[in-house]
Amino acid sequence: MAVALITGCSSGFGEAMALAFADRGYRVVATMRRPEAAPDSLRNLAAARPDAIVLAALDVTDAAMRNAIIEQTLARFGQIDVLINNAGVGARGAFEDIPESQFRTMFETNLFGPLDLIRLALPHMRARGTGRIINVTSVAAFMKTPFMSAYCASKHALDAATAALNIETRSFGVRVVSVMPGPFKTALPQKSLDREASAPYAAAAAQFNTNFDGLEARAPDDISPVVAAALAAATDPEPQLRYPAGTEVVHILQPILQAVAPMEKIGLHLTGQA
Ligand SMILES: NC(=O)c1ccc[n+]([C@@H]2O[C@H](COP(=O)([O-])OP(=O)(O)OC[C@H]3O[C@@H](n4cnc5c(N)ncnc54)[C@H](OP(=O)(O)O)[C@@H]3O)[C@@H](O)[C@H]2O)c1
Repeated sequence: MAVALITGCSSGFGEAMALAFADRGYRVVATMRRPEAAPDSLRNLAAARPDAIVLAALDVTDAAMRNAIIEQTLARFGQIDVLINNAGVGARGAFEDIPESQFRTMFETNLFGPLDLIRLALPHMRARGTGRIINVTSVAAFMKTPFMSAYCASKHALDAATAALNIETRSFGVRVVSVMPGPFKTALPQKSLDREASAPYAAAAAQFNTNFDGLEARAPDDISPVVAAALAAATDPEPQLRYPAGTEVVHILQPILQAVAPMEKIGLHLTGQA
């Protein structure tokens, strides 16, 4: 039975992916900061089908917890076939108003935590000659948005690491790919680490917030395209580097992704894998 380890399963995409992967026959390790407050959907499934899903504690910013979850998963199930770095946090605010500590927290959650989980899981996948690592990035990795500098920078960095690692690990049978969602209605805005704009930025931030609130209000409730993208990323025999999810994002990103593709092929040439 293939094993999928997923981060950030307390709500949104992570919760839906955990259910979908269990439904597809994966043994799912659904991690979240507070498993004692897990959503009913996962709690009920874990009670009914303990062979299909286990709920486990993981704050992705905590190094000891990252080590423990990889060790425990390997000790219990012997393998990790799919690692999904889904946990993430947003923040709105003017760069000047965001303390450095908060910028770092964003990067710990959206970039360094995921990279360290890859660092821990990769040797085992490499030794087995198979594995899929799926990083949930965002359209924000390419669309740079004012008042979201920390979020855009963290997702851009995760996208870059994904693209580089995908070349570096492919000869070992391990693929590192991304699911790149556009806007969908989840708990992300409620959990966002927003900062009130100071006087110099107040007018522009108010305008931005009005526009962005409208965009979030229009975002689809149906998150199934993101789940479908994650399933495809995990199972496609020859996976794409990026799986854009959401009608608008596919449309907007298509020309950008086509434009960067030749640049990304350079890495293949450098490794002699062209
Ligand atoms: N919704 C969108 O429009 C959208 C678009 C593009 C990309 N994304 C990305 O999709 C991913 C999932 O977000 P979502 O939309 O499903 O929002 P969500 O419902 O807020 O889910 C985010 C998940 O990340 C978890 N998380 C945050 N910090 C964590 C930490 N330090 N350790 C472990 N878990 C942590 C949250 O857990 P807690 O309950 O403990 O806070 C929650 O389970 C994120 O990476 C997000 O950036 C979302």
